[in-house]
Amino acid sequence: MQPHLKRAFTLLAIIIIAFIFVRSLAVPGSFGEYGWYRGDSVNELRSQDIEYAGSRTCGDVGCHNTLYSIWNQSRHKTVNCETCHGPSEKHASNIRIMPEPADDSRDFCGLCHYNRVARPDGFPQVDPETHGQNLRCAYCHNPHKPWFV
Ligand code: HEC
Ligand code: HEC
Ligand code: HEC
Repeated sequence: MQPHLKRAFTLLAIIIIAFIFVRSLAVPGSFGEYGWYRGDSVNELRSQDIEYAGSRTCGDVGCHNTLYSIWNQSRHKTVNCETCHGPSEKHASNIRIMPEPADDSRDFCGLCHYNRVARPDGFPQVDPETHGQNLRCAYCHNPHKPWFV
C-alpha cells in the first residue's frame, strides 16, 4: 500500500475509535431501551403530578354542571376551563383546595383577542386602545358565554 494511503487509513481509524469512545461517554445508559429515546424518561414523566383535570371533570361530577352546559354551548367551548382558571386537578380531587382565581385582566383576554395582523380575519378581535373603555372585559362579556353577560 502507498504510504500516503496508510496515513489516511490510520487517521480514519483514529477518528472512528475516537467517535465510538466519545459517543459511549455522551449517550445516557438507558438510551435505546425502547426506541430512539432515553428509557428512563418514561418513568420520569410517569412520576410527575397530574396538574390538569380537564373541562369535562368540572361538569361531569355534578359540581359546575350549569356553568359547564352554558360554556359548552358558547363560542368559548373550544377554550378549556383551565386555560383561564389554571391547572385545577388538586381542586377537582379535593374541593377544599380552591383553585387560583381566573386571570380577569384585559391583557389576559387580549392574548387571544387583541388585534394582530397574523390572526385570521374571521377571528373575533378588538382594538385594545378603543374597545371597552379600559374596563375589565368581564364587566360586559361573560367569560363563560362571551356573547353576552
Ligand atoms: C375565557 C376564560 C374562562 C373560561 C374558558 C372559563 N372561565 Fe370560569 N371564570 C373566568 C373569569 C374571568 C371568572 C371571574 C368572573 C368575573 O369576574 O365576573 C370566572 C369565574 C368562574 C367561577 C366563579 C363563579 C362565577 O360564576 O363567577 C367558576 C365556578 C368558574 N368560573 C368555573 C368555570 C368552569 C367550570 C369552566 C369550564 C366549563 C370555566 N369556568 C371556563 C374565566 C373563564
Ligand atoms: C385561549 C384563547 C382565548 C382566550 C384567553 C379568550 N378567548 Fe374569547 N374566544 C376565543 C375563541 C377561540 C373564540 C371563538 C372564535 C370563533 O368561534 O371563531 C372566542 C370568542 C370570543 C368572543 C366572541 C363571541 C361571539 O359570539 O362573537 C368574545 C366576545 C370573547 N371571546 C371574549 C373573551 C373574553 C372577555 C375573554 C377573557 C375573559 C376571552 N374571550 C378570552 C379564544 C379565547
Ligand atoms: C363596556 C363594555 C365592554 C367591555 C368592557 C369590553 N367589551 Fe367587547 N364588546 C362590547 C360590545 C358592545 C361589543 C359588540 C359591538 C362591537 O363589536 O364593538 C363587543 C364585541 C367584542 C368582540 C367581538 C368583536 C367581533 O368583531 O366579533 C370581542 C372579541 C370582544 N368584544 C372582546 C373584548 C375583550 C377582549 C375585552 C377586554 C379587553 C372587551 N371585549 C371589553 C362591549 C365591551
